Amino acid sequence: MRITTTVNGERHQVDDVWEGESLLYVLRERMGLPGSKNACEQGECGSCTVMLEGVPVCACLVAAGQAEGREVVTVEGLAEPDALHPVQTAFVDAGAVQCGFCTPGLVVAAADLLRHSPRPSDPEIREALAGNLCRCTGYEKILDAVRLAADRMAGEEVAR
Ligand code: FES
Ligand code: FES
Repeated sequence: MRITTTVNGERHQVDDVWEGESLLYVLRERMGLPGSKNACEQGECGSCTVMLEGVPVCACLVAAGQAEGREVVTVEGLAEPDALHPVQTAFVDAGAVQCGFCTPGLVVAAADLLRHSPRPSDPEIREALAGNLCRCTGYEKILDAVRLAADRMAGEEVAR
C-alpha cells in the first residue's frame, strides 16, 4: 500500500508498504531517518519514541498505515537548521549520553514534557520518562539534563 505522511514538516510518499510494517521501520528503512532507535520492537524501551499528531508514541507499535495523512515528528525534526534543540544540548552538556541508544526517545519525550510543563518537578520528569529505559546512565544525569534544559528554556540557567 501507499503511505502519505508528513514527517518533520516534509510530505513523504512511500510505496509498497506491507500492512504489518511499523512506522519505525518506515521511518528508518524507507525514509532514511535512523534517529529513532529500534531496541526492543515491543513497546518496552521507548527508544523509538516519536510524536504522532503531537502525542508521543512508540513508533515500533504503530502500524505505518496509522500515520497516513498525519503528522510525525522524529528526533531529527526537533533541531533547528542551525541549532540543536535545548534538550539535545542539555543532554550533551549534562553528560546524559553514554551509548546513546535510549537518547533519541528520551529527548523526544523530554521535549514534549517541557512543551506542556516548562518547570516540571522531579516526580513529573520521572513520570514523563517512565516509558524510556536506559541501561547506561542510572538516570541521574538524564534528570540533570531535563532540569538544565528547563532552566535554559526559562532563561534561568544556573551554574552547576
Ligand atoms: S523499540 Fe519501540 S519501545 Fe523499544
Ligand atoms: S545511554 Fe545507553 S541505554 Fe541510555
